[in-house]
Amino acid sequence: MNNDSILKTFGVAAALCVVCAIIVSVADVSLKGMQQRNKALDRQINILRAAGLVEPKAKVDAKQAAKLFENAKAVVVDLASGKIVEEKPAAEADGIKLDPKDVVEIKKEHDVAKIKYVPKKEIVYLFNDENGALQTVALPIKGTGLWSTMYGFVALNGDLKTVAHIVFYDHGETPGLGGEISNPNWTAKWEGKQALGDNGGPIVRVVKGIAAKAADAPDCEVDGISGATLTCNGVNATVSFWLGERGFGPFLANLKNGTAYDVKASEN
Ligand SMILES: Cc1cc2nc3c(=O)[nH]c(=O)nc-3n(C[C@H](O)[C@H](O)[C@H](O)COP(=O)(O)O)c2cc1C
Repeated sequence: MNNDSILKTFGVAAALCVVCAIIVSVADVSLKGMQQRNKALDRQINILRAAGLVEPKAKVDAKQAAKLFENAKAVVVDLASGKIVEEKPAAEADGIKLDPKDVVEIKKEHDVAKIKYVPKKEIVYLFNDENGALQTVALPIKGTGLWSTMYGFVALNGDLKTVAHIVFYDHGETPGLGGEISNPNWTAKWEGKQALGDNGGPIVRVVKGIAAKAADAPDCEVDGISGATLTCNGVNATVSFWLGERGFGPFLANLKNGTAYDVKASEN
């Protein structure tokens, strides 16, 4: 066939498309397992960052992550009652399967984080020191920023009052503006801030500009990110929702009072 014929040009283009499609499909299918393992490892590392066990930019492999998880427990919390209904070593948290359809619709007036639905159960990570005392509790959070849903973890210290760390590991905010919420230099400003007030309600918040603290007031303000007030408003709403009564508020209160374990579940 003549090399300049239209039929040959289309034939070669079509054959090339088929070969490329096969290569891409095979690569996608064969790399799926690796992708899922990397995703699970990334999640584990972010939980460890929230717990303060991994420095923000440190590289950690699966073995090191498993070692750091040794003293941690993954517990399934029933959000409405604030009770722990299931418990596993943290390294086995992937084995806990929660039904993504098991959710409750949030009334518009309560949906400050703009997430529409809240799961009935969530997995929380409890990190203990070598004596078994609670060191940090890492809580998964999600909420809407300016452009996107922001996913992260907020961890409280064992006093269940102050912030250990906060991490945002997935969001679509603008790099250099709202995207700075995942900059460790900014998230470091949350460390030690008072998360919950004396009545147990959330008080920690990002303010516009530089945080101030009156001598007689709790240290609960975090410096704002300039040019990113709208994302920071979303962060405030997200943290406030998840530390509040429709998020982990009842669980944190139970944990503090020593009544977090569901008696029926632990007897079974
Ligand atoms: C292209 C573009 C992207 C922006 N991305 C963000 C963003 O991710 N988060 C945010 O809060 N504001 C973003 N802004 C700015 C907001 O429109 C708004 O000006 C800003 O939140 C106000 O913050 P400030 O009071 O600190 O200046 C963006 C603006 C432009 C033009």
